[in-house]
Amino acid sequence: MTSPIVVEDLVKVYAGRVRAVDGVSFSVNDGELFGFLGPNGAGKTTTVQMLTGNLRMTGGRATVAGLDVRTAPLAVKERIGLVFQESTSDPDLTGRENLQLAAALFRVPLASTKATVNSLLERMQIGDAADRLVKTYSGGMRRRLELGVGIIHSPQILFLDEPTLGLDPQGRAGFWRYVQELRKDRGMTVFVTTHYLDEADSMCDRLAIIDHGKIVATGTPSELKDRLGGDIVTVRPTNRTGPEVETLLGNLPTVVSVSPLDGTYRVKAPRGEELIPTLVEACTRAGIGLAGVSLKRPSLDEVFLEFTGREYREDEGLTATDRAVRIGQVQQAFGRARR
Ligand SMILES: Nc1ncnc2c1ncn2[C@@H]1O[C@H](COP(=O)(O)OP(=O)(O)O)[C@@H](O)[C@H]1O
Ligand SMILES: [Mg+2]
Repeated sequence: MTSPIVVEDLVKVYAGRVRAVDGVSFSVNDGELFGFLGPNGAGKTTTVQMLTGNLRMTGGRATVAGLDVRTAPLAVKERIGLVFQESTSDPDLTGRENLQLAAALFRVPLASTKATVNSLLERMQIGDAADRLVKTYSGGMRRRLELGVGIIHSPQILFLDEPTLGLDPQGRAGFWRYVQELRKDRGMTVFVTTHYLDEADSMCDRLAIIDHGKIVATGTPSELKDRLGGDIVTVRPTNRTGPEVETLLGNLPTVVSVSPLDGTYRVKAPRGEELIPTLVEACTRAGIGLAGVSLKRPSLDEVFLEFTGREYREDEGLTATDRAVRIGQVQQAFGRARR
């Protein structure tokens, strides 16, 4: 069987200027939970929108469920589920009504609609609130409902665009529990975007890290971390910085590399905790005062820093323009999906 999602050299240029997706290639294996991790504005939503037939690609090729997205966007839409980054359930309808509406839109046979809706309500644990207006739901309940809407037509491939954005840790854990259950029961392939590092690390079988429209690294979370080649000891000198500090640190035993960053030095070594005593002693001997030394096991934010040269910030805010652009984009896309 061909891979459920194959993307080659995908490009999106908005309004002839903004190169939001800049030559992205990857493929997702059958049944895999594939993560697209990147900071705000990296190009995640743009990629999802192109792959789900909601946005025209400027260049490249993509097949989803074996279909060419460019030539058969409607057939693609019928075979996939999609949960948008922004909330798309109607707050003035009940949870049950939202699901019934989705069932009608996706042409779920009338005879099985009732049973399908009931089982989804139960599965997503919103049974008790099924007949309450969605505007009374918590964020987590609303996202679970939207997950139910996304899979009402039993798609084999599910796209989730930052599905847990803004949820508290409990809401996030709850949401992921249902995604995992669905994968187990239905063998669904899931493509998820997130800017949460911990989520990408713990949930995804494989990841692509995207920054400024380009994939900077692909692999399983542990492959990516292993590529860093060890722990990271960050040294913050009080009085001296410069090449001699870098050389001194670089010459210590077991040190793999040293890179300066904002007045600190990031020293890579296989066993960081064993390096620290030697490092402190060497600095003291050389008259280098230390404001702090910290040890970090490899994690995905280190991976991001390694491949982009920038620190990863999860909380980077969206500008008002970004928000407006995005909300417009989603409304348009959802309008199209409903037609
Ligand atoms: N409709 C649009 N018109 C112009 N620029 C856009 C539009 N949508 C998104 N962008 C820009 O494209 C880039 C990628 O956006 P997006 O795909 O939404 O990123 P992410 O989902 O990773 O946060 C950003 O610079 C964003 O401002
Ligand atoms: Mg987005």
